[in-house]
Amino acid sequence: MAIERTLSIIKPDATERNLTGQIIARLEAAGLRVIAQKRIWWKKKDAKKFYEVHRGQPYYKDLIVFMTSGPIVVQVLEGEDAIAKNREVMGATNPVDAAAGTIRKDFGVNHQKNSVHGSDSPEAAKKEIALCFKKAEIVG
Ligand code: TYD
Ligand code: MG
Repeated sequence: MAIERTLSIIKPDATERNLTGQIIARLEAAGLRVIAQKRIWWKKKDAKKFYEVHRGQPYYKDLIVFMTSGPIVVQVLEGEDAIAKNREVMGATNPVDAAAGTIRKDFGVNHQKNSVHGSDSPEAAKKEIALCFKKAEIVG
């Protein structure tokens, strides 16, 4: 295992329900360190750029509408095996399939409003971190 960085997003359904702190507490309890963080409200162009690989999927249009419907908290998380560890703490994409005790199981509303995002590979993490943060904003 190696020290990795991953991009995390607390989605609009979670910021709306005031769950930011509870989600961060779970990430930290799992050994992930928040080394960059900001609360922002994406424009359509920001969401489209971020979710470019999903363009053409049946859920894509609604996903863009949802991700621009309210504030989000974007974060860089650092830790041992951070990419897989974050995905584990998050749980499966659809909350009904997520394991007990995961963020999506406990807080997710449905397949779309699933409270959190996490990069799924080192390549994606690198790309997503660069999209969301300037180097000087990452202070590990
Ligand atoms: P995906 O990358 O497959 O999931 P994950 O967030 O677990 O990496 O999909 C990106 C987001 O798109 C997902 O978090 C929610 C949304 N989505 C839907 O709304 N419906 C779907 O059927 C799928 C697959 C995804
Ligand atoms: Mg994904």
